[in-house]
Amino acid sequence: MRALPDTDPRSLTVQANIHCSFCNGGYLQAGVNGNIPLQVHFSWLFLPWHRWYLYFHERILGSLIGDPGFSLLYWNWDDQVYGGNEIPELFTRVNTSLYDAKRRAEVQPPTIVPLAATTLPNMSASIVTNQNLNNMYQSVVTASTASLFMGGALRAGVDLSNVTVLNNTLGGSLENGLHTAIHYYVGDPTTQLLQNMGNFGTAARDPLFYSHHSNVDRLWEVWRLNMPDGERADHTDPDFLNAEFVFYDENANMVRVKVSDVLDNQKLGVYYKKGRSDHVWINYSPPASTNESAVPVALSGGVPLVGESPLNGTISIGTNFSAIVKRPSEEKPSKTLEVLTIQGVQVARDQFVALVAFVNIPWATENTTTDSAEYLGTFNIVPDPAKSSLNTNVKYEIGDNLKRIGLEKEAEVVISLVVTGSNATVTIQGLKIDYEDQ
Ligand code: C2O
Repeated sequence: MRALPDTDPRSLTVQANIHCSFCNGGYLQAGVNGNIPLQVHFSWLFLPWHRWYLYFHERILGSLIGDPGFSLLYWNWDDQVYGGNEIPELFTRVNTSLYDAKRRAEVQPPTIVPLAATTLPNMSASIVTNQNLNNMYQSVVTASTASLFMGGALRAGVDLSNVTVLNNTLGGSLENGLHTAIHYYVGDPTTQLLQNMGNFGTAARDPLFYSHHSNVDRLWEVWRLNMPDGERADHTDPDFLNAEFVFYDENANMVRVKVSDVLDNQKLGVYYKKGRSDHVWINYSPPASTNESAVPVALSGGVPLVGESPLNGTISIGTNFSAIVKRPSEEKPSKTLEVLTIQGVQVARDQFVALVAFVNIPWATENTTTDSAEYLGTFNIVPDPAKSSLNTNVKYEIGDNLKRIGLEKEAEVVISLVVTGSNATVTIQGLKIDYEDQ
């Protein structure tokens, strides 16, 4: 694949450019008025698009080596027991086709790859491990709805850099919490834009990209089939099922494919063995680091009450921001989740940035660890200076956290947001807690 000329759609260069085109506005949406870029991140398109992309990439590799049974390896970075949380040694052998020189020097094996942007370089391995387990737990186990986990609707005509709070898309926790952290930590910070893995334009030049995404794909399946609360459901909206993309197949022919045809891995001939250590994060029980409501101390410290958009205007987060947020006053209906929505997050995309959310820790900072029940999740955004900004909603299941801390009876809670990774500008339009259907 590396040896093929750049004019061949099966070459690694063109394979990487396909990712770049779908992710950085190389294509325009079909059948809508105006020039609206197509973007396969930050919404429900993320998982199915990348599954199709891996499917063709794997078939191309198999056909190039004459082995139709060839299978991509997945990098099980979620594994905190058997060493999956290091960059796989296979990819670090200089002068082999799996090697890429543009990777972060500080996370070479045996360094553990963090899944949380607040992880400081000199944290102990046990804190990093617990933070990773908690990130897995919060992003996969308690994110039980398709919207929370896969991301929300992106419908024809919506331009992600130019939306209102009402038609903002919603990025999912697998993408924005876990997947993007890996992109950030593997990319080389001494290059412009964290090349190769740290921005969507160059990420797929690194062969590790495909093994990273194979694990993302595997986790989608684990989320759907292997959670303690039983089988979970993908989106069923026709706008999701009927979305179409084009790819090159192993014969270098262009083919058109649909989201609805990629939802069943078995039909694609893709099987994942049960992960040896999945149960460790599935059953992770994050300890609470606080034991009473922080609302009184936050109130006396001047923390403001923040409500739903448009009541607040635009709130600038700075490096950190705390607010008191009301919980719904009515009883929680069964088959619902209690969910925090960070409304209308707007991020300048000139550099990597992460927005980290906590409950009951007023004035949290980038040094606040993410291994406890107070941690809600992280929204990581890779840089893309060609786009001025991204507008999105961010949601976290919060009921499980409140229960673990013992705050189920409280009428209001303290929410803290921390900006880390860079000092990029982040603003929001509101904070809202309500019940959402499961
Ligand atoms: Cu299209 Cu991991 O990104």
